[in-house]
Amino acid sequence: MALYLFCLLLAITFIFMQTLADTSCTDCFIHSRAAYYPNSEEHGTDIGACGFGSFGATVNGGDVSAASSLYRNGVGCGACYQVRCTNSVYCSENGVTAVITDQGSSDNTDFILSKHAFSRMAQTTDAAASLLALGVVDIEYRRVACSYPDKNITIKIDESSNNPYYLAFVIWYQQGRRDITAVQLCETQNFVCQLLDRSHGAVWTTTSPPSGPLSLRMLFSDEEEGEETWVVPVNNIPGDWKAGETYDSGVQVNQ
Ligand SMILES: *[C@@H]1O[C@H](CO)[C@@H](O)[C@H](O)[C@H]1NC(C)=O
Repeated sequence: MALYLFCLLLAITFIFMQTLADTSCTDCFIHSRAAYYPNSEEHGTDIGACGFGSFGATVNGGDVSAASSLYRNGVGCGACYQVRCTNSVYCSENGVTAVITDQGSSDNTDFILSKHAFSRMAQTTDAAASLLALGVVDIEYRRVACSYPDKNITIKIDESSNNPYYLAFVIWYQQGRRDITAVQLCETQNFVCQLLDRSHGAVWTTTSPPSGPLSLRMLFSDEEEGEETWVVPVNNIPGDWKAGETYDSGVQVNQ
């Protein structure tokens, strides 16, 4: 009897450990659904909620997506996800890696992919046509590192900016799988810094940008590890920054 109880206890402990392992597993796929932008071109949309502009439509070869809860009030903008559909007749093993550039949901979906990205989940062009005809499909997804070979993190000054009264910008080409959760703008000369507001999506703004060359500090947060690191670009944003311009930060991250 005692042995029986002992074995039962062992079995319960084992099942409990398994459950713990499942919930703490960072690389596991999560089940969900995905649709694609109706009436869209192959790539994504220029007016995505992240505020990336045309970059948000064409980055990553147009493999972009709107996210529902993964949008996380804009923190999820620029995050990369491996998304694969689960119908073994049509779907490829690897699926597609898509970048979040917009917010949206449709019929219990976590992703509204660009048509290009949605089609990329298929094994063949014929299978892609079948997937597109379905409109919404069952998928599995997981967060993965973004990769932009030969690109540094780049600051794109938003068209709404007006030197010296108002500065708004987005951050392009952030590799890895961390979130940028805070940005400071510093006067290069005096090193006086101010914390910027995330006005919406991926857009950081201030109504009182300091004059002269500016240096940024970006806080990279790793949700899984609970780690935070400030990353400081090599290059400054010049004092005569202009709306619509892009500035190479001179740095890149790999995690
Ligand atoms: C990235 O920045 C470094 C300077 O830190 C520079 O040497 C390099 O050319 C830049 N790479 C690209 C692709 O612009």
